[in-house]
Amino acid sequence: MKKNLLMWDQTLFKDIEVFDIDFIPGQFDYRDTQIERLAFAVKPALMGGKVLNTICRGIPGTGKTTSVRKFFEEVEETTKKIIPIHINCQIDSSEYAIFSRIYTRLTKNSAPPGGTAFKALIDMVAKYIAKEEIIPLICLDDANYLIYNKEFNNILYAILRIHEVYENVSLGVILVISDPDILMEEVMDARVASVFRYETINFEPYSAAEVADILTQRTIQGLYPNVISSEQMDQIVDRTMRCGDVRIGLDLIKRSVMEAEINARLGVTDEDIQKAFSASRDMHLSGTINTLAADEMLILRQIVKMTDPDKFITTGDVRRALPEDGPKLTRFNEIMEKFDNIHLISMGYANKGEGRKRYVNLRYDKDRVEKLLRKKQE
Ligand SMILES: Nc1ncnc2c1ncn2[C@@H]1O[C@H](COP(=O)(O)OP(=O)(O)OP(=O)(O)O)[C@@H](O)[C@H]1O
Ligand SMILES: [Mg+2]
Repeated sequence: MKKNLLMWDQTLFKDIEVFDIDFIPGQFDYRDTQIERLAFAVKPALMGGKVLNTICRGIPGTGKTTSVRKFFEEVEETTKKIIPIHINCQIDSSEYAIFSRIYTRLTKNSAPPGGTAFKALIDMVAKYIAKEEIIPLICLDDANYLIYNKEFNNILYAILRIHEVYENVSLGVILVISDPDILMEEVMDARVASVFRYETINFEPYSAAEVADILTQRTIQGLYPNVISSEQMDQIVDRTMRCGDVRIGLDLIKRSVMEAEINARLGVTDEDIQKAFSASRDMHLSGTINTLAADEMLILRQIVKMTDPDKFITTGDVRRALPEDGPKLTRFNEIMEKFDNIHLISMGYANKGEGRKRYVNLRYDKDRVEKLLRKKQE
């Protein structure tokens, strides 16, 4: 029976999209409390009051983006007054890009007219909000990238100022931050801290039982029965728990099943899972590399090239090895700090006192990074 099934449509997937990164699952458990808190923060606006700003915090793959998206769907079904705007700060990371996105989403125009200056753009956004009497609810998702790029305070300030400067204009902000090392008190400068009131909503890592349930639900939806055994599912849950990111589990399932399919098998073998794991574990790293700007790539390539288990390298060594028309010192330092923040490298001081040297350590295996860099170039 199963064999015929495979012969018929050549697939073990009932619905492969179920395992895609941006798939919004129909069944979404264990985050009711967080979604209720988002609703609670927005409710006052429906009664003529103001939205309470929130910050959603939790390590990668704990359902922050999905919760916000689910909540936004609900907002859209309930009211026309509040306009949810989801912004991925890995993609839109400058003031102008973010305000263009807000403008486009609000006015449903394609983009602000070419050559619009930033101030004029803010003005257009504010006037539109006032005229339409709407309340934008702006989610800056992955806002940690704004912090690494040092854009965070400027952007937040520009958003918050709108309702200080323009009468009758009100808006709400949801920040999503996945880096547990970030302390809000440290990153917010005084002008932002004095006006930005917020509540924190925590997304705790899922337990093993929760991960198992989430992955099993998805498997039922996306695969034909018995493609993965329950022992294999335990293995996948176990590996997922080691990094805490549900995405790794979903990716592992997808890749293992694809591996089985390529080999015309009706079920996944342990080797398929093993093979899939080597690819899945690079998912984060390759995601990070894909977001890097050209000057950042240049420096990363240099660090990888110089990485040698028998040698120490310093920030000075890296900078001296760069081409003359490479990034200037301030930009170079900024990039190194960002790499440290996004855990691509670690930096440590070599000695005490003046002129301290800083050592640079690549946090990943040199060959793995090289492979991904080559792929990006292709
Ligand atoms: N409770 C859940 N039920 C079903 N699927 C879930 C659940 N939580 C997370 N997922 C799935 O895990 C993946 C990651 O979730 P999501 O993108 O919401 O995480 P995140 O916290 O925003 O991560 P990041 O910080 O890396 O952006 C998605 O594919 C999502 O569908
Ligand atoms: Mg997310």
